[in-house]
Amino acid sequence: MQKTKAIILAGGNGTRLYPLTSIVSKQLQPVYDKPMIYYPLATLMLSGIKDILLITTPHDAPHFKSLLGDGSQWGISLSYVEQHEPKGIAEAFIYGKEFIGSDQVCLILGDNLFYGKLDFLRNAIQNNKGATIFGYPVQDPERYGVVEFDANGTVLSIEEKPSHPKSQYAIPGLYVFDNRVISIAEHLKPSDRGELEITDVQKEYLSLNALQVEKMGRGIAWLDTGTPESLLEAGEFIHAIEKRQNLKIACLEEIALRMGYIDSTLFEHLLLKLPKSSYKEYCARVFNEIQSA
Ligand code: DAU
Repeated sequence: MQKTKAIILAGGNGTRLYPLTSIVSKQLQPVYDKPMIYYPLATLMLSGIKDILLITTPHDAPHFKSLLGDGSQWGISLSYVEQHEPKGIAEAFIYGKEFIGSDQVCLILGDNLFYGKLDFLRNAIQNNKGATIFGYPVQDPERYGVVEFDANGTVLSIEEKPSHPKSQYAIPGLYVFDNRVISIAEHLKPSDRGELEITDVQKEYLSLNALQVEKMGRGIAWLDTGTPESLLEAGEFIHAIEKRQNLKIACLEEIALRMGYIDSTLFEHLLLKLPKSSYKEYCARVFNEIQSA
């Protein structure tokens, strides 16, 4: 299997969430009991990726760095690059060129939340031959990139925020690309709205006959945080599941321990440093359960 690195794209203006985002970036907003960025980071960690680049704005970079550090506390490597202006999602591969090196890369948008069994992502990472993206049925596909299939599941078209969507299948902000993505992104022309579009990258792979689109199963929740209402709903969703199961979603300390990225000694050190909180109590409980299992 090819080595896989990951990029979390967490820049942008976040204007749709104004005034929430006038001081704190969108991806640092709370989704119930954790900053939003914890969720995409958890998705990557749970899929086995340990080498991660976070791209954000010059204004927000210090906040992310003080929240997440270099990742070593969770047994992963986190590095940072600043994107000066939000000129398109596909710019991630240009800013991330050095970081990606000769590996394949998984890109996740910092405001996309996934909940459920992550086998779909592990399989994509393992089997990717060019680009692997996903299709997820939604009631408002015009807000997203949209993929159209024929009756055999062959991809017919990909469009960015079409006013008349040809299918219900939105393309979530989670993608796996082989190393060609760097030069594809470098050769892209900005769209009419002046951005390097991620859908144009996907279309290029489609024309190379190297695009795989997997329909995401009904067991996966893909949550959106693009509007104040969807941000609230995402928080309510996380709250409902955490309360019912008495477990936390995207507790990075727990994931690091369960994935074997850190050992119990390091976990105990982490635990000592956590401030008195329900989060700390949860980590302590998880630790005791794992120790006595
Ligand atoms: O959420 C999935 C959708 O994400 C896809 O279906 C679309 O194909 C894709 O274009 C994107 O649509 P959005 O309307 O959500 O894109 P937006 O411009 O809001 O950017 C998504 C996130 O990426 C946002 O939180 C900020 C960050 N971003 C965006 C751009 C354009 C950056 O960090 N830098 C950028 O240059």
